[in-house]
Parts: sequence; C-alpha cells; structure tokens
Amino acid sequence: MHKLASQSGSSLTGKIRVPGDKSISHRALMFGASAVGETRITGLLEAEDVLRTSSALRSFGVSIKRAGEVWCVNGVGVGGFASPPDVIDLGNSGTAARLLMGLLSTQNVTAHLTGDASLRSRPMERVIEPLSRMGANFNFMGSGRMPIVVHGSAEPIPIEYNMPVPSAQVKSAILLAGLSAPGKTIVNERSATRDHTENMLRSFGANVVVDTLRGGGKRIELEGYPELVATDVTVPGDPSSAAYPGVAALLLPGSDVTIEHVGLNSLRTGLFKTLVDMGADIEFQNKRDSAGELIGDITFRYRPLRGTHVPADRAPSMIDEYPIAAIAGAFASGETRLCGLGELRVKESDRFSGIIDGLNACGVSARADKDDIVIEGCGGPPTGSAEIATKLDHRMAMSFLVMGMGTQSPVVIDNAAAIGTSFPGFLDLMTGLGGNFGLPDE
Ligand code: S3P
Repeated sequence: MHKLASQSGSSLTGKIRVPGDKSISHRALMFGASAVGETRITGLLEAEDVLRTSSALRSFGVSIKRAGEVWCVNGVGVGGFASPPDVIDLGNSGTAARLLMGLLSTQNVTAHLTGDASLRSRPMERVIEPLSRMGANFNFMGSGRMPIVVHGSAEPIPIEYNMPVPSAQVKSAILLAGLSAPGKTIVNERSATRDHTENMLRSFGANVVVDTLRGGGKRIELEGYPELVATDVTVPGDPSSAAYPGVAALLLPGSDVTIEHVGLNSLRTGLFKTLVDMGADIEFQNKRDSAGELIGDITFRYRPLRGTHVPADRAPSMIDEYPIAAIAGAFASGETRLCGLGELRVKESDRFSGIIDGLNACGVSARADKDDIVIEGCGGPPTGSAEIATKLDHRMAMSFLVMGMGTQSPVVIDNAAAIGTSFPGFLDLMTGLGGNFGLPDE
C-alpha cells in the first residue's frame, strides 16, 4: 500500500501510446492456449491481471513464453487442459476468473480458484448458474464467491442462454464452455456487450454466427468442438486506459494530447461519445482495421465541458469508464446524470458508492437517485483536498489521480499499487505529459 498525491501542474501536451487492451489480451492468451500450434501476440498488456491469466494457463499445461516483444503461446487444443497441481490465484481479475471458469467447466479437469479480497467479494453465481446447466460442478462456501473449486464436466451439454444482465464476461464464459460441448451453444443478450470473444474466436477458425435482434441485442451461436488454429494477434491500445490521459487533457487549460493506436470498437467507445455530448474537443484520425478490430489515433484538447445525461443503454459500451466520466462531470458546468448503473456496485469495488463518496469528499455535490448518479458540476476546478479509499480498485485510483491534476488542492489516493492491475507505466506516462504526483504531506 502506498499513498500518492496528485496536484495541479502544467497543461498536458504530447503524443503517446497506452498499453494493450486488457480484454483482448486475456482472450488472446486463452484462445492461443485452446488452439493447435503457436499463437504469436504483439502488444500484449503486461499488467498484473493479464499475467495472472498467463500463469493460470501455464498451470493447465500450456507453454507461454515471451520472446522480445512477442508472446508465444503453444496451445493444447480445445479440451486439452490438465488439472493444475496447485491452487490458482487470479489476483484482482474478474475477467480471468469468469472466462477461465467457462473454459474449465466443459473439460475433464478439477481446479481450485481464488483471488484477492476484491475478487473474493465479487459475485460468481452469474457464471456458476449457466455453467452448471452445461454439466459443471462447483464447490464454494457461502453465496457463490471465491474460493471456488471447478469440476469440469466429462459430458458437457450445450445450452441456449438468455442473459439476465449485460455482461461480456458471462457471455464469454458460456461461449468458451461451448467450445468443448457438442452442437450449438447459443447466447442471447438484450444489450450488446463488447464482442472481442466473438471476433477473436472467428479469427481462430471457430464457426460463430451473430444476428442483431430487434432493439439492438445480439444472438450469438457457436458450433462446438471447432479446430482452433493458432493465429497471430496484434493487441490495440486499451480505450479504457486512454480515457485517463484523454479526460485529463480535456480538463486542464491549454492541453493538447494525442493517443495513437487506440482500439475503437464501437462497443467500447461510449465514453468518447459522452465526452463529445459534453462539448469536448476530440478528434479521431487514421481510423483503420487491425486484425479485425477498428483502431485509430485520438486527439484531446482542452475546452470547458457542460453536463450531460448519459442514457442507461450506453452503459455496456462504457461500463469501466464511469469513474472517469464522473470526474469529467465534476469539472463540467451544470448537471450530469449517469443512468442505470446497478452493475457498478459489483466491479473491482462498489464504484457506485465510491464515486459519490469520493466526489463529495472533494467538495462536489453528487448523489444517488435509484440506479443513477447525479453530479452538480462545478463549472471549473472543484476543491479537492481529500483522501480517497480506492479499495483495490485500479480505475478508482487513476480517476481520482486525474481529479487531483485539476482541483484547487491536491487529492490523495490511499493505494497507488492497484494501478498495476491494468495500466503499468501510468504515472510515468502522465508525468511525461505534465502531471504532478508525489508523496502526500502528512
Ligand atoms: C470485461 C467485461 C466487463 C468489464 C471488464 C472486462 C471483459 O465486465 O467491466 O473490465 O473483458 O469481458 P462485465 O462483463 O462484468 O460487465
């Protein structure tokens, strides 16, 4: 645990890249592990969460090596995992936990999974229920939380599943279980969530058919027992990470920051849309295709923001970006209403309460209205002068550091170590742009 203070400094300027996309990195390792042959991954996110997935896969018998900048995965083929000899600690990573539970649940293996205090508090029932219907058994104490022992099924059953909550992790867990089930596994989602699993499975050779439903949802059909073939993967910069330097530039007068090679999959870019609604000066350039994913360069320039109303149906495309969106709302003029945020209560921390408490501590009026968060923007720099309890949550830590870059007095976070979960090099990158961080005065 180490505290860190963020205080206002100069404007931010520069051209940068952010580390690789976390969701795509987890999947590239998992699909490479389930393919035959060598998958070569460029731009893998080398952060705590993804490294947990890589070491879990090694303990299932998969060879993963780093050769210079490239990660080489020698897969064991669909259904080829071995039972791991030891307990697997997935750290802070909900994506590793839920996707690996899916992969394991239709293979003839037993694995004992656990995680840090944050992951052990997060609901796993949402994957246990459908995966049990596919034939897996789970042992756990209490109410569907880690630690969990997964007993994969030797005779898996494909299912058709109607998603009760929008969740790419749950959808992906079921599809990954469907790889080792005979026949068709079908997932219906009322709101479309990030589709990296579908895109990447296809590029590894699986037969995945996606139909758009009336109202914008999706029906995803996967044919079981595909022969997955090793494929090279280039991981784009993570739009969720680009959000921090991007919003910081929008808030600090005189700033002009370009972030190159960022993933722009439309199921991930709800924050950018929201910021444009707030009047932000954001320019997209060089939009291009990179291995099936849209990428581009984004320039963020300072301009005063105004409050906005973010509809609930935008939540899946900016689900990880509400903490930083709330910071933008705090600096904007007028009210910002972020709607339909029930899912934020079960992220790496209870972000719903954390956002409200953190903003209030920094002198910003913010309140809950059922599942909405309502923020009265300050129309400029809020007071700051607060210490934020980040509760092992990397996104809360980075968001409140961005807050402190523009507040009247510094903002301190209680634990900067959590940032390593998704964004190694965050502090150096932000300092290079003009950010000002240091140990708090005590
Ligand atoms: C992710 C899906 C989202 C997101 C998480 C990554 C993924 O979680 O919050 O950071 O890679 O599939 P949910 O599926 O719980 O919404």
